[in-house]
Amino acid sequence: MADVRLTGVEKAYGDIRILHGIDLEIRDGEFMVFVGPSGCGKSTLLRSIAGLEEITGGELTIGGRVVNDVPPSARGIAMVFQSYALYPHMNLFDNMAFGLKLAKVPKAEIETAVRNAAKILHIEHLLDRKPKDLSGGQRQRVAIGRAIVRKPEVFLFDEPLSNLDAALRVRMRYEFAKLHEDLKTTMIYVTHDQVEAMTLADRIVVLSAGKVEQVGSPLELYEHPRNLFVAGFIGSPKMNFIEGELVAIEAGHVDVKLSGGNVVLQARVDGSAAQVGDKVTLGVRPEHIRTEGQGNQLQSTVAFVESLGGTTFAYCPYPGVEEALTCQFEGRNGADRLRSGQALNLHLPAEALYVFDADGKALRRLAAPELSA
Ligand SMILES: Nc1ncnc2c1ncn2[C@@H]1O[C@H](COP(=O)(O)OP(=O)(O)OP(=O)(O)O)[C@@H](O)[C@H]1O
Ligand SMILES: [Mg+2]
Repeated sequence: MADVRLTGVEKAYGDIRILHGIDLEIRDGEFMVFVGPSGCGKSTLLRSIAGLEEITGGELTIGGRVVNDVPPSARGIAMVFQSYALYPHMNLFDNMAFGLKLAKVPKAEIETAVRNAAKILHIEHLLDRKPKDLSGGQRQRVAIGRAIVRKPEVFLFDEPLSNLDAALRVRMRYEFAKLHEDLKTTMIYVTHDQVEAMTLADRIVVLSAGKVEQVGSPLELYEHPRNLFVAGFIGSPKMNFIEGELVAIEAGHVDVKLSGGNVVLQARVDGSAAQVGDKVTLGVRPEHIRTEGQGNQLQSTVAFVESLGGTTFAYCPYPGVEEALTCQFEGRNGADRLRSGQALNLHLPAEALYVFDADGKALRRLAAPELSA
């Protein structure tokens, strides 16, 4: 087990700078997840930690040891990639044993390590099979098994589940959580998948264009995104944004006049650093919009409804909103009877609203106990 520290880590290919001074501390035994849009540098960062890419600035330590010039094989890490190339002509046992054989580990020790990994991953009964005779999920387990037998100090996973179908992803997600619970080894995991990030991570790192936007627990990021980028990135479906202007700042709340029309909404945020007249963006998550409630209302006409049975999404256009407000209603309490063309009163609870200044920085949200419960 080991912690991983990055201090001012830079990566450039010639003149093209990919990572811009990354500072991060990944704690010993932590499950850390990297998320961010395609091309933001998640894989580059992971490969830099692995030593598959040489960093062009800064310092990287694993378990307190500076590893900038240490080759990948001596860093105490094991990496699992999205495309888990197994050797097709070898059975599972040999696929998992291969690295240990190369390292001239004694036979009995290899036997124990492989059987132990196979047991953890529930593939003991498959050890004689060749990869072509396995399902996708089983192949993925072999790739993880190959990493486990090396007893690394740190596991690195680059979108390990993205080749699997939806049902299998759910099962493997659970397996990853259990694997971390059993091994308690430091894990760094890259994913595009919101749910994977929220459910697996002790902490999430949100990256954008080679920079860290925010680091925090899943709920911290959900409830207190530092800026518009993180607010729009964490949460699914995405947070709604409405343009507006600050018209009043009081202790405990601010009033925002929406740019389309005369509606003023109150938000429970700390406006002490802002000024009346400031342009702001109001944020509200689809799951926090209601059809009933006192005050903070706006009128819309439903443009489109998606009924998934338990959950209903209504898309409601409003001036100053790109496309439409996405509203999410749970259960069958009438929401399933919504129709396009219908007029709808929307209630946006003051404690559910986020406010961002003209630079996209979030005004601090004040306690929202009913949301954080
Ligand atoms: N060898 C290279 N030379 C120049 N640019 C590169 C090289 N390798 C990667 N890049 C660039 O670095 C940036 C980051 O790539 P990276 O693969 O880390 O993104 P990512 O966040 O993992 O994206 P994805 O989610 O699509 O996997 C991209 O803009 C990519 O084009
Ligand atoms: Mg990638």
